[in-house]
Amino acid sequence: MTTKNKIRVGFKNLLVTGGCGFIGSNFIRYLIDKGNFSGRIINVDKLTYAGNPENLADIASDFAPGYIFQKVDICDAAKLEEVFSQYDVDAVCHFAAESHVDRSIKTPGDFIQTNIIGTFNLLEIAKARGDKFKLFHHVSTDEVYGSLGAEGLFREDTPYRPNSPYSASKAASDHLVRAYYKTFGLPATISNCSNNYGPYQFPEKLIPLMVLNALKGKPLPVYGDGKNVRDWLYVEDHCEAIWTIMNSGRTGETYNVGGNAEIENILIVQMICDILDEIKPAADVKPRRQLITFVQDRPGHDRRYAIDFAKLNTELGWSPHESFKSGLRKTVEWYLNQKKWVENIKTGAYQKWIEEQYGS
Ligand code: NAD
Ligand code: DAU
Repeated sequence: MTTKNKIRVGFKNLLVTGGCGFIGSNFIRYLIDKGNFSGRIINVDKLTYAGNPENLADIASDFAPGYIFQKVDICDAAKLEEVFSQYDVDAVCHFAAESHVDRSIKTPGDFIQTNIIGTFNLLEIAKARGDKFKLFHHVSTDEVYGSLGAEGLFREDTPYRPNSPYSASKAASDHLVRAYYKTFGLPATISNCSNNYGPYQFPEKLIPLMVLNALKGKPLPVYGDGKNVRDWLYVEDHCEAIWTIMNSGRTGETYNVGGNAEIENILIVQMICDILDEIKPAADVKPRRQLITFVQDRPGHDRRYAIDFAKLNTELGWSPHESFKSGLRKTVEWYLNQKKWVENIKTGAYQKWIEEQYGS
């Protein structure tokens, strides 16, 4: 197999892993709804608690057979092989992962299995396809670089210093992808991005959790002193960045993706309270900021993330479109308008539906 540093065209059968999760479902929507891709998409997802087929219900009914869903665990190599050969897969965009840092502190084993072994399985099967296989794109995180002090930005050459079981498992998977490129010539690209936000994010992550708690008048648990900083990237901007890298990025390269939106957690929670007070005042008309409750810090909590995405900007011309202020408002409005989706998650109805369709 030879690697080629040139613009790739015409994937025919794109396997998306984890396509029923937050970013994966937005990515499939971005490719299909916006007409960015005319080939076939095969979405492979285990449907863990974070995978919700409802995220793509309209796509599944409107775009078959151009869109195909297969309930498969990426740790099951034999099933994966069947899918690759049945659908003649020539490219992969790999999102599937255990993604929540707090869960990785409680149950790290799932993270090791899916994020490391699952990625290894995909790489092996992609490698075995030889020259038929055009690209393996691996979606990763800025958390592999560890934590920043008050100054500085993560660059692609920043040394890896993961601090949580989640980020350590993602770092391991990044290294495997790089090794398969270097050792076996597997055509691969990697992106490491900052915190995503937007529609369809599971309400365990900061922004949707705060929106839904605030709407119910529940406490808003802010870890530590609330001054940890993240860089926030609107999910559709992320999808565009991934697709740009997949089509025009240099094989074997890593690209950082960021939102140009560094902000302390406490300020985000206050902004959410203020937006909700304005568009949906509480029944008792009290300001929602009173719900903010400082709680015990997350163990190993990284202080600050910030991204230098100059490489992606200079080489491929990408930069984010959404400002944090407008993106956050759109996101809050989305959750307000998606009562059924929220209820199905809160009551677990989406999981009952999955059991009925596929068994447990
Ligand atoms: P998510 O938790 O919302 O979705 C993960 C999806 O993967 C779910 O649909 C789940 O069912 C599926 N999945 C989990 N284990 C699987 C397995 N063994 N086999 C098949 N499918 C499995 O995650 P997300 O926020 O959409 O993140 C997607 C990817 O992007 C992850 O790789 C994550 O590390 C990375 N990432 C996320 C962010 C973020 O802010 N959310 C930022 C940087 C990188
Ligand atoms: O940086 C990219 C990463 O962003 C991704 O790789 C992860 O998959 C994604 O989950 C996210 O990780 P974080 O740990 O940064 O996201 P989370 O939404 O869990 O937390 C954001 C910040 O808010 C973090 O500093 C912890 C804090 N927080 C979070 C929750 C859930 C709170 O203060 N209270 C909370 O209840």
